[in-house]
Amino acid sequence: MPKILRTAGIVGTGSCLPEKVLTNKELEQKVDTSDEWIRTRTGVRERRLADNDTAASDLAVPAAVQALNDAGLSPEEVELIIVATITPDTIFPSTACLVQDRLGARNAAAFDLSAGCTGFIYALSVASQFISTGAYNNALVIGVDVLSKIVNWEDRNTCVLFGDGAGAAVLKGVPGGKGLLGLHLGADGSGGPLLNMPAGGSRLPASIETVKNKLHTVHMNGPEVFKFAVRIMGEASLRVLEQAGLTKEEVDFLIPHQANTRIIDAATKRLGLSKEKVYVNLERYGNMSSASVPVALDEAYRLGLIKRDYKIVLVAFGAGLTWGAAVLNWDLEPPERS
Ligand code: ACO
Repeated sequence: MPKILRTAGIVGTGSCLPEKVLTNKELEQKVDTSDEWIRTRTGVRERRLADNDTAASDLAVPAAVQALNDAGLSPEEVELIIVATITPDTIFPSTACLVQDRLGARNAAAFDLSAGCTGFIYALSVASQFISTGAYNNALVIGVDVLSKIVNWEDRNTCVLFGDGAGAAVLKGVPGGKGLLGLHLGADGSGGPLLNMPAGGSRLPASIETVKNKLHTVHMNGPEVFKFAVRIMGEASLRVLEQAGLTKEEVDFLIPHQANTRIIDAATKRLGLSKEKVYVNLERYGNMSSASVPVALDEAYRLGLIKRDYKIVLVAFGAGLTWGAAVLNWDLEPPERS
């Protein structure tokens, strides 16, 4: 990593999940699937679904409020907001601007970032650069996705996998040796067709045909994405550790993207970690795309599973194809249980 002028660290987290639960049993009524298939092939038991009138910003704002409270920062003090999402409220304006307005964070610059399920780690990396250079003193980073709105509910290959949610983190400058110790981002655009939503952009604007052909929904080559994910989660984790000058034996906790337990198990094995050191919540939430990593981080922190001075690896992969990993020296005491 280039010379760091000032280290950025996470000083507060938050999350928000819709109340509505959709179980595998209920999905059996919608598509030709079974609870047994979903659990054994993915690990998912149930997921949360946003209501018809709930958009990304509606989940992002409560997650952000919680993270700001945790960090002791008022909305007016926020200098930068980055929202990682592939399901923004609208193509424009950005969801970050909608969040900025609803928070009353009128002094913050705001923009969205699209990197599929790796979005939160990309956003964390971008925000940390602004803090390292001194351009901003703090940043609010949100990962939010409402995949239920763009899933084809007749396609059993995809609709059983996803859920909705939002997670947030506040970043600030922290003493050297604390906070973000390493970052690794990657992309392979040639893999774009493996996981995409074909229509709704400037290539295929909305038309009766695109709607009829379900081109405004998630299209995925599951087995190819699976192979990529199994390889890249381990590789990216090892790369970021090397960059931070740490060995895999020094890792205290892993927060992986929550797509499939078989993918998480492969990454866990590659790092030689015991299962107690890996946070998994996908059985309750499914794959929440950009929200998976920050929601898992927030939960693990609030449960007291992450302690001060723990070396934590965050790792994700997603549409793009993209991947990313970060290693942090955690510098927060677990908050009061909330
Ligand atoms: N219920 C029952 N059967 C199913 C279902 C289902 N929900 N879905 C697929 N099947 C069937 C298939 O049709 C296939 O049947 P066939 O052999 O008769 O053709 C069989 O099950 C096996 O299908 P595979 O695709 O080979 O199953 P696989 O073991 O690869 O598991 C899965 C599929 C779970 C999708 C896996 O490939 C996976 O997890 N891939 C990665 C997905 C992922 O992480 N995507 C990230 C997206 S995030 C983002 O950036 C938006």
